Formats: sequence, structure tokens, C-alpha cells
Amino acid sequence: MSKEQLNDMLKRLDLSEILTGLAPQGKNKKDTGSHKFWMTQPVPGYEEKIQEEGPIKVIDPNTIEKEPSQMYPGFEWVTMNLEDEKELEEVYDLLSNHYVEDDEAMFRFHYSSSFFDWALRAPGWRKDWHVGVRATTSRKLVAFISAIPVEIRVRQNLVNTSEINFLCIHKKLRGKRLAPVLIKEITRRSYLENTFQGLYTAGVLLPKPVSTCRYFHRSLNWEKLYEVGFSPMPPGSTVTRQVAKYRLPSKTSTAGARPMETKDIDAVLSLLRRYLDKFDFVPMFTRDEVEHWFLHKPKADDERVIWAYVVEDTSGKITDFFSFYCLESTVIASSKHKVVRAAYLYYYATETAFGNDQDALKTRLNELMNDALILARNAKFDVFNALTLLHNPLFLEQQKFGPGDGQLHYYLFNYRTAPLLGGVDAQNSASDKFMGGVGIVML
Ligand SMILES: CC(C)(COP(=O)(O)OP(=O)(O)OC[C@H]1O[C@@H](n2cnc3c(N)ncnc32)[C@H](O)[C@@H]1OP(=O)(O)O)[C@@H](O)C(=O)NCCC(=O)NCCS
Repeated sequence: MSKEQLNDMLKRLDLSEILTGLAPQGKNKKDTGSHKFWMTQPVPGYEEKIQEEGPIKVIDPNTIEKEPSQMYPGFEWVTMNLEDEKELEEVYDLLSNHYVEDDEAMFRFHYSSSFFDWALRAPGWRKDWHVGVRATTSRKLVAFISAIPVEIRVRQNLVNTSEINFLCIHKKLRGKRLAPVLIKEITRRSYLENTFQGLYTAGVLLPKPVSTCRYFHRSLNWEKLYEVGFSPMPPGSTVTRQVAKYRLPSKTSTAGARPMETKDIDAVLSLLRRYLDKFDFVPMFTRDEVEHWFLHKPKADDERVIWAYVVEDTSGKITDFFSFYCLESTVIASSKHKVVRAAYLYYYATETAFGNDQDALKTRLNELMNDALILARNAKFDVFNALTLLHNPLFLEQQKFGPGDGQLHYYLFNYRTAPLLGGVDAQNSASDKFMGGVGIVML
């Protein structure tokens, strides 16, 4: 099937079909009407068949409230100053103790303060978009939500969005409908900056994803992952056999591969922009963004966030680029290990993608990704994670990634568009037939 035919087919499927296997026994799935908050927002309902692409609601700047809504008694709105180490530390503390956990509460994301510096002070960042809630008496930070401005392309349309991230509420304040208040406040602050569309991802199902990707995991340190309860022992296998299965060569194999440097920024920008043209849902990288996202300097050596590499051929041309970032998880349930160090595949691009030869692309990506795994292992990562976006279905299986339970839904606020391919088929398996949609990697 051509991409056009596939897109056409996707449009005709309804959400429940697209999510076959993704929402087991209807977990998370509700009617749009039972989403008391989301049903009031400019987002499409689950059942809505989308014919036309574009903003859902035109916002009249004169109607935007100038002040935040009233906060609950005993609490108050604050704008966090992340240039102040103390305030950055407070956000770090809140998220370290209260951010995303897995269903069994065995692991919790643990971002470093360098990570927040990287993620929240991206080019064009606005202090106003770092929103906190404090307890009035104790001054304790109890909730947070943030956004950064990002221009994206959805099919042929360019859209200015605020990319929302790090929504977090203290565990003691959960279930009190504070999340909608935070979401409305970040929306108001976005509108005030003439940004009327939003972009966000979540593991939970809300009305209505524009696409859904699946997480895949590749063991680098199998024994540790087994000890912390992340990787199960396959029936009939042994530790020795599992360790052997995931063993990697000691050195990388791609000729000309080296860490990315400042002098590579323009070449990487050009390669990445041309490569992302192949997808329907992508960020429009600027030069400043390439520099920020791929060459960020950590505050301390043990807080390095991003690893980026280029391949330079003998004529000095940059032919390939790949990157991954670090996100540790606290191991809540094990005494032997405190953290799992996960590398997350970030953006990559290769000249091989322009030849329209999928076999050649597959071969090249497998070479590059095998090197990425080796480099990550050498940098002491325990596991390498990737979603089914970009051209990832071409190498996941060959590089011994295993499918995870997790899925990631992509959402647009105040914008409707027909479903986009997320690299998984109706059985929720990674599939190269379903590539070409999602090309946005969110942190
Ligand atoms: C996500 C979190 C902020 C929700 O807070 P909560 O106290 O459980 O929820 P509240 O009672 O305040 O609000 C519930 C509403 O928020 C919505 N909501 C919950 N999580 C959401 C999310 N991640 N994105 C958008 N909306 C969300 C719910 O769907 C519900 O609206 P509905 O009735 O229209 O469906 C909180 O559980 C948390 O901090 N979790 C850990 C961090 C996390 O998972 N962050 C989100 C990362 S995507």
C-alpha cells in the first residue's frame, strides 16, 4: 500500500480499532462525555471523524483573562525562576518524589537538575511558562506545569505550539481536580503569547490522540535489569544465556563516527531538516535549537544529558547523525540498586534515507543504532529505550529491542487533524508499513 492509501485507511478506522491491543480490556477508555474537564476543552471527541485539518476554536485576544483563576484556599500561583538554583532545586525535588511511576510503583522517573535546565530553557523559553503552586503558609512547592514554544509541521501546515511537559501534583493533592486548573492556567499563559495551539504526550488515554507509539527496550546490562525486576527471566533461559544474548562488541564499527561538535551545527541542521521532511508530524528545527538540544553542557560531569554523534566521510561531509539522552529512574523497590540509567533514542538522520531504497536505509540504520547501543553501554547505561516513531521499526527487532507495556499518545490542543501513523499496526506490533507519521521525540 502507498502512504496515501495507508493514511486514507487510517482515517476510516475509528479510534478503538487503531488502539486494538493498546487499551487492554478498555483500560483508561471512557466516553468523551465522562471526561468532565476535557469535554469542555477544544479537543476532538473520541468518536469525531475528522474531515478537515486546522484550529478548532478561534481565540479572540480580548477575551483572554489577564489574571490567573482563583487558586484553592491555602495555595497560591507562582512563576518559578529556574535561573535561580534554589527554585530549580525545588522543581527537581517535587518531580523526583512525585513524577511518573510505572503501574506497579517499582520505578519513578528521576530527572537531574541539568535535565530541567536543558528541557525548560530551550530557545525561546519564557519564564512565565514555568508555573508552580505553593502552599501559602509553608511555601512548599506542591504542583508544577511547564511549556516551551515549538514550531511544528502537521502534514503540510506549520503550527506554533506550546509544548507542555512536566505536569506534576504532589501525591497528597491528587484527585482534587487540580490538574485541570493547571492546564487552564498554562493555556491562558500560552494564549497571552499568541500561541493558540498546544502539543503534549501522555501514557493515559484522553480525547483524542493524533497518534500512538509503543515503547521498546533494549537491555544493555541485562543482569542488573533482572535484579531490579525490570526484565523477567524467559522460561528455560539462564542469566548466562541472557547476558550473552545482549552482549555487544567493545568498539563501534561505523567509519568516521565521532562526537558532534560546534562546527557540525549547520551540517546537522541541514541533514535533520531534510530527513524530517519525510514525516508528517515533526518539529521545525532552527540552528539555535540544534545547538541547544544536541550540544547542551551539563552543570556537573555526572549530570550529562545528551550524547550526539555525527559520521563524517573522507571528504569531510556529514552523512549521518544520531543522539540519545539520559533519563534515570529511581528503583523504589530494590535495595541492591538505587537507579536504572536509561538512554532514550532522540533524533537521528542519514543521507541514506534520500535514496528511496528501504533496504539500504535499513542496513544503514542498523549499523548506526548498533553503534549507538555500544556507545550507550560504554557510557554505563543499563537499558536503551526507543519508540516506534521515525524509521525505528526498521531496526528494533534486529537490534534486540523488546516491546514494552508502555504506549505514548500524542495530543494536539485546539487543533484537529486526521490520525497520523505511529509505527505500530493494529496488533500493536512495530511495523515498517506504518512509518511516516510521527517524527517528534518528546522528553
Ligand atoms: C497527572 C496528574 C497531575 C493528575 O493529577 P490528579 O490529581 O490525578 O488529577 P485531577 O483530579 O487533578 O484531574 C483529573 C483530570 O485531569 C486529567 N488528566 C490526568 N492526567 C492527565 C495528563 N497526564 N494530561 C492531561 N490531562 C490529565 C484527567 O483526565 C481528568 O480530566 P477528565 O475528568 O476530563 O478526564 C498526577 O497524577 C501526577 O502528578 N502524576 C505523576 C506525574 C504524571 O504522570 N504527569 C503526567 C505526565 S504526562
